Amino acid sequence: MAAINFRNSRRLLLGITGGIAAYKVAELARLLVQGGIEVQTVMTESARHFLGPTTLQALTSKPVYTQLWDDSVNNSMAHIDLSRAVDAILVAPASADFIAKIAHGLADDLLSTLCLARNCPLMIAPAMNQQMLGNPATQRNLTTLKKDNITILGPAYGIQACGETGMGRMLEPHELFEVVQNFFQPRLLQGKRVLITAGPTFEAIDAVRGIINLSSGKMGFAIANAALEAGAEVTLISGPVCLTYPAVKKLIPITSANDMLAAVKNEVTLNDIFISVAAVADYRPAISHTQKIKKTDNNMVLDLVPNPDILQYVVNLPNPPFCVGFAAETEDIDKNAEIKRHKKNLPLLIANFAQEAMGSDDSTLMLFDDNGKHTLAKAPKIDQARRLIEHIATLYKKHHS
Ligand code: CTP
Repeated sequence: MAAINFRNSRRLLLGITGGIAAYKVAELARLLVQGGIEVQTVMTESARHFLGPTTLQALTSKPVYTQLWDDSVNNSMAHIDLSRAVDAILVAPASADFIAKIAHGLADDLLSTLCLARNCPLMIAPAMNQQMLGNPATQRNLTTLKKDNITILGPAYGIQACGETGMGRMLEPHELFEVVQNFFQPRLLQGKRVLITAGPTFEAIDAVRGIINLSSGKMGFAIANAALEAGAEVTLISGPVCLTYPAVKKLIPITSANDMLAAVKNEVTLNDIFISVAAVADYRPAISHTQKIKKTDNNMVLDLVPNPDILQYVVNLPNPPFCVGFAAETEDIDKNAEIKRHKKNLPLLIANFAQEAMGSDDSTLMLFDDNGKHTLAKAPKIDQARRLIEHIATLYKKHHS
């Protein structure tokens, strides 16, 4: 397959095959265009029974191709021209028939022919009745597609247009849009190894109680996802969280600050960049009881001892990776952030308002580096994470030039 220019080019060929889910593709086309992606649509003959080409033409501002033999294409080679003019192909919905064709290299219409002639990645979003999906023939075909490095998106479980319930629903337009957006992220950290700590640490008082910081892990996980999109090899060390883990190279779940430090010590030397997002508990009980402490009528005094500062440990290594710190502050954010950045000797520290960011899906970020302060206005954490990764990649490059 030809290499893709991820930086400048965002051109997608959207193929639509016959299936009731085709009506949702109008919304997908709208999201893609709004997201700055150039969309060229190609429909099969059966897709036209479910969705009109005029709708897609209006949404994408481009003619919709349906015929292999199109007189408007100068050299009559629409299948070659169209597949060469894009960076990726997404077929949504992909019917059982289309999947079978692709698995066997058949090329009897424009969409199947240009997929066969492509020199770019192909993603498909299957949508069909659950029995058709479960049929051994379809399963065999899907296995073949995976072996051929074709990305299969979904399908999802749920109520189907035919009234049955099961696997076979096409992923929703916003989910497919997210996948395409990820695909087009610039590979700014290609070949780089990134270590990330995320979530809180839990410091046990006894078998059932402990001290924990308020942290959902959402920001750290968003950064791990953004680093993956940017092509990095990511190791994620995470405290206890209720989130789906990103598909990182190595995932190390930990509980306490001491566990986190031990994991960081094991991993850090292999990494180019260390992003310390974890809300590490600054203290732990001097004694952690293995049995449950029984209640009495008296006050209870907890003796707390300081935890190691993990970020400081990494910064002080003889050959530290490029280190990025976080600071959740409740007041005097600029002053506290700069004090923290200088105290920890960090090239970049990211501060946020604890009240706004904790547990939320959005946050406002303040970036402090040698050039001063940059504010990233309130936005979803995944968008902030992508901007952060871009900034980190720029600073990292400068640092090593
Ligand atoms: N950090 C760490 N280990 C600790 C405490 C903090 O690695 N024991 C890291 C955090 O992951 C974050 C940065 O240090 O990247 C700043 O953490 P923060 O809790 O805001 O600062 P502290 O240094 O703990 O100072 P304070 O709690 O007094 O604000």
